[in-house]
Amino acid sequence: MPGLFDPWSIGSLSLKNRVVVSPMCQYQAQETGNVTDWHLVHYGSMALGGAALMIIEATAVLAQGRISVHDVGLYAPEHESGLRKIVDFAHLQGTKIGVQLAHAGRKADIPGPIVAPSEIAFSNRYAVPQALDREGLKAIREAFVKAAQRAVDAGFDFIELHAAHGYLLHEFISPLSNQRTDEYGGNEQGRLRFVLEVIDAMVEAVAHKIPVGIRVSATEYHPQGYNERQMTDYCKEFIRHGITVLDVSSGGNVPLVPEVYPGYQVGFANMIKQAVSVPVIAVGMLDDPKLAEYVVRSGQADAVAIGRGFLRDKHFAHTAAKSLGYEVEVPKSYERAYR
Ligand SMILES: Cc1cc2nc3c(=O)[nH]c(=O)nc-3n(C[C@H](O)[C@H](O)[C@H](O)COP(=O)(O)O)c2cc1C
Repeated sequence: MPGLFDPWSIGSLSLKNRVVVSPMCQYQAQETGNVTDWHLVHYGSMALGGAALMIIEATAVLAQGRISVHDVGLYAPEHESGLRKIVDFAHLQGTKIGVQLAHAGRKADIPGPIVAPSEIAFSNRYAVPQALDREGLKAIREAFVKAAQRAVDAGFDFIELHAAHGYLLHEFISPLSNQRTDEYGGNEQGRLRFVLEVIDAMVEAVAHKIPVGIRVSATEYHPQGYNERQMTDYCKEFIRHGITVLDVSSGGNVPLVPEVYPGYQVGFANMIKQAVSVPVIAVGMLDDPKLAEYVVRSGQADAVAIGRGFLRDKHFAHTAAKSLGYEVEVPKSYERAYR
């Protein structure tokens, strides 16, 4: 089995190692959705840190789909130029860069009405959403496509669809948040319909240029929610519709926090990995390099996404490579630090 610093690929995208920077909201964008100097420095410094692929934070496809008013957006053409600067800098450092496209659904904490599959609030701290009608669904599908095209124009190498953590696409999949009686609800086929329509539209628009992946919550940790076995079947369906990598997280659609410990989500990634033929990324407290190496070498996942480990150490991948005894290829200006 390959190790953490062996190459792999997502569709046509070749990656030099199996360390991915997990998408992490910074809440540092202007209220217009434009990135700021924060993003250039934050992502720029991680682009120097040795990960093969960095995935930019949940980026809103519509203003109404922002988690907060300080989310990054790709819902207008003017959002492209700031992101292109980050993309170009990452490319100069040999780092591939993706963007996670998202709609927050009922977890949007912004002024004005919010939308979801059904009129069920996430918790009593959140507004009651309006149930989307056919026109609203069409507008969101089109917004995902437009944002994906802008991502291609800005030079991104990869798009990850955010269907995890209780945001809009997850809300459609889940019987806890989707209690619709039309063709977008009811049984599993109905609950998957909107996600599959979004995948189809995005794949048709951009997959000939860059690969499209998806982040899922494998389980909802709730007896009436879906579980990891059902999500494994859903993932097979996503792949049939053109998804080329699965990023396996969990939870987020009900206000409870599961017990967490190093590698707590790896079992979910492994279950899905054994059932599919596209690569799978594991995530969640994997920032002990030996553990990350073990997860990949034991074939439980093809790659690991690291979140907080990169916030603490922007050069996490170099640090990990050095501690595992791999030869470290660092930017020329930093070579003396690794001799
Ligand atoms: C500050 C912060 C922001 C996050 N924002 C996102 C996000 O935008 N999209 C997402 O899918 N997950 C998000 N997450 C979850 C991380 O991507 C990751 O799955 C989680 O932190 C577990 O990995 P870790 O233990 O390596 O941090 C965020 C996590 C943190 C700490």
